[in-house]
Amino acid sequence: MARKISKPNSRNRWEDHYTRKARKENFPARSVYKLQEMQKRYRLIHPGNRILDLGCAPGSWLKYAAQITGPRGYVLGLDLKPVNLKLPGHAQAIVADIFDLSDDVNEMLRRKFHCILSDMAPATTGHRDVDAARSVTLCESALDMARNYLKDGGRLVCKIFQGPDSPTFIDQIKHDFTRCHIYKPQSSRKASREIFVIGKGKKQEA
Ligand SMILES: C[S@@+](CC[C@H](N)C(=O)[O-])C[C@H]1O[C@@H](n2cnc3c(N)ncnc32)[C@H](O)[C@@H]1O
Repeated sequence: MARKISKPNSRNRWEDHYTRKARKENFPARSVYKLQEMQKRYRLIHPGNRILDLGCAPGSWLKYAAQITGPRGYVLGLDLKPVNLKLPGHAQAIVADIFDLSDDVNEMLRRKFHCILSDMAPATTGHRDVDAARSVTLCESALDMARNYLKDGGRLVCKIFQGPDSPTFIDQIKHDFTRCHIYKPQSSRKASREIFVIGKGKKQEA
């Protein structure tokens, strides 16, 4: 008897519950649910906050963060790529390379933020250690931004691909913040080596 062969997924092999949910709820990426989980657990964003979102494209975190801050707050996103999404008036996305910020962007960063989010990811090579090393470089630049542009007592969320250098980065967060949490959201793909490092309570001297 002929065996029944299941049809391949018509969209792509990565589509899952979170991808479909994101489409239904009008978010451009499933990554929004990672931030949502962290928000529920760690209360990172508050109404009226100023939020800096590093690596913001295609815009899911940006849109979600703006919903929480509300119009009394402000969310600024930076990414190499443009965000093609209708954003509320208190959210803004700028095309920028974190390693080469223009004077205009530096000016926009002058007023400090309550929370800095970094979901930045390097273009992956498929070589684990190379990707992890590039991810740490992005995390270090996010921490640098936090040292300069995060208010005392503020929060930093940083995605990192686990590798030989990630413990050193985590130690830096422990040094600069009063609390450090490591979190792997349910919605993060099991095969992914990503984890999130969360620093709460930026120390005054950091
Ligand atoms: C996983 S995506 C972010 C998804 C986003 N949080 C969302 O929810 O829509 C990672 C982003 O990091 C950005 N990125 C990587 N290197 C960067 C750099 N040097 N400066 C700015 N953005 C960068 C990439 O362009 C990419 O859009």
